[in-house]
This record gives sequence, C-alpha cells and structure tokens, in this order.
Amino acid sequence: MLIKHKKASDVKSSEITSKTAFLNRRQFIQAAAIASGASLLPPFLNPSFAATRIKYPNVKKMAFGEAEKPTTYDGITTYNNFYEFGTGKSDPARNAHTLKPEPWTVEIAGHAAKTGKFSFDDLIKPHQLEERIYRLRCVEAWSMVIPWVGIPLADIIKRFEPTSKAKYVAFETLVDPKQMPGQQRKALDWPYVEGLRMDEAMNPLSLLAVGVYGEHMPNQNGAPIRLVVPWKYGFKSIKSIVKINFVEKEPAATWNVQAPSEYGFYSNVNPNIDHPRWSQKKERRITGEGGLGALFTPKIETKFMNGYGEEVADLYKGMDLKKFF
Ligand code: MTE
Repeated sequence: MLIKHKKASDVKSSEITSKTAFLNRRQFIQAAAIASGASLLPPFLNPSFAATRIKYPNVKKMAFGEAEKPTTYDGITTYNNFYEFGTGKSDPARNAHTLKPEPWTVEIAGHAAKTGKFSFDDLIKPHQLEERIYRLRCVEAWSMVIPWVGIPLADIIKRFEPTSKAKYVAFETLVDPKQMPGQQRKALDWPYVEGLRMDEAMNPLSLLAVGVYGEHMPNQNGAPIRLVVPWKYGFKSIKSIVKINFVEKEPAATWNVQAPSEYGFYSNVNPNIDHPRWSQKKERRITGEGGLGALFTPKIETKFMNGYGEEVADLYKGMDLKKFF
C-alpha cells in the first residue's frame, strides 16, 4: 500500500496494474503451496522454518557467477548470521519464524526529491526481478554461492531522485523485540545499521534482494528485503531493511561502531589485509552438501574484492585500502 508520495504521477498506471496481478498471483501460489502440503511439514523438518516457500514468477536470469555451483537451499538457510535471532549459526533458522515479512514498509528519507513510506509492493515491481548468482564472503572466512532474486539498488535509488547532497546511503533493520527475540538482549546496538557511499550503492552489482532460488526471501536470510554487496564482507549486506536514508556524512555501520579497529566502514574483501585476529587470505566454501560436513571443505584462496575487482576497481582509485579498510 502506498502511504505517502509527493506526486500521484510518480506511480505509472502500468505499475499499478502489474501490482494487482502480482498480488493475485502471490495469493494463488500461496494457496497452491498449502494444497500441495508444503506448509504441513512440522517446522523442525522445514529448514526455512517459514510456513510456505513461495516462488516468484518470471525471474530473469542474469549472467553472473554461473560457472559456480550454488550452495544448496538448506545450506543457505540453516547457516546464518542474523543476530536479531541469536548469535549462533543455527539460531536464525530456528527462531526467525516470529518475523512477519508481510505487510512490510520501508521509509525513504533524507536528501531526495521523493521521500515517504512505501510498502514492499510499491518498491518491488515483479517484472524487474532478476536472478544473480553471487559469492558471499563472510568476514569469518567462510563463503557461499547464492542465487539471489532482486532488483539493482541503483534502479530503486533513481526512482527517489537523490539530490547532490546525498553522498551516502544509510540502511536500517527493523527493531521489534517481539518479532526479533534476539533484540531482547544487547548483543549489538539495535537497530543494525549499514551504509554505502553513493557511487558504491549505484554500482550495477549492488542488489536489493527479495529472495533466493527463485523464491521469496526466507526469514533467516533477511525477509522480505535485504542488501547484497558481493565485493564486500557479508556483514555489509544488511537484512530486513525498514529505512533507506540519503545522507551527507558517512553513516554509522554496526560492526564498525562495535569494533572500529577490526571492521572498517568500507569492508571490501581483501586477502592482503588481515583481520587483526585472523588472516583473510583463505576461506572455506560452504557447499551445503553433506550437511555440516561442508564446513570442513578444504580452504580456497580468497580473491581481491571477492573476485569482482574488475567491476568495482574504479570506485577505489587513489584510495589507500589499508587506511580505508
Ligand atoms: N543484518 C542484520 N540485520 N543482522 C545481522 O546480524 N549479519 C550480517 C549480514 N546482515 C546480519 C545482517 C552478516 S555478519 C552476514 S555474514 C550476512 O548477513 C549473512 O547473510 P546470510 O545469513 O543470508 O548468509
């Protein structure tokens, strides 16, 4: 539901029609999933712990990382970092069923011609959805290959017409200790926040993801909408976003605030710059095959900028990456 727009003309009639059709399809698919018995599985047998797995229709396949075999759905949805649901890797899969991703509102704020509160369906137009297979390299030296469903962040940003004062984009996760029981403790300062420089946000690789494996985003992966910045450590990819703010100054980023000597604002994947407590030269790829045995796959070399160096090198020309780590 559109809550506030500056001008009615901002929404094209074609968008409104497709939204209605999309909603109908979603309800239909949900009903079909229930009829097929998918939601009748007891939660502990369902790795996503979500009642239903819902497919997106007509996701365009994009040529990214297609040579690599994606991590299995179970791998992607049972080994997670999402401190709002606990600090253990299996906590999000176990606990994230309390998150209600629908209805969902995202506030667009700050230096932009258009601001306000927008529902998920106002922001995400189903005909724009793409599948992109990206490597995700966690700062903890493990990685996955994930077939995301999403929309280039640049396409969303352009719609709101940021002004010349918008030098950075700041993101915030939901705060609701009822839905996110991990927030009843102070594991981190809530809300989880992250930020990108405007040119990083506008880079064609940056994605607002709304699903994996052609389906709606599982709660534990950041339903209904999260950021994916594949050349940066995974913690930049903030989950369950409720606010996007166009700001002038470098915004706060949770892990940078938590431990500034260990996690920089940029956090680009860089095997040449060690974390103060461990090397970043190598990583273990979690394939998801063979259950947790996958955690013991041999280490592989970590690539500069997670292998996306060609696409993003221009962003950091002339910057000392040891200083701006
Ligand atoms: N976003 C929020 N809101 N809370 C978190 O704890 N963890 C981050 C990032 N986004 C996190 C978050 C970290 S450390 C990683 S590695 C990725 O999410 C993990 O994403 P995944 O669980 O989908 O693989």
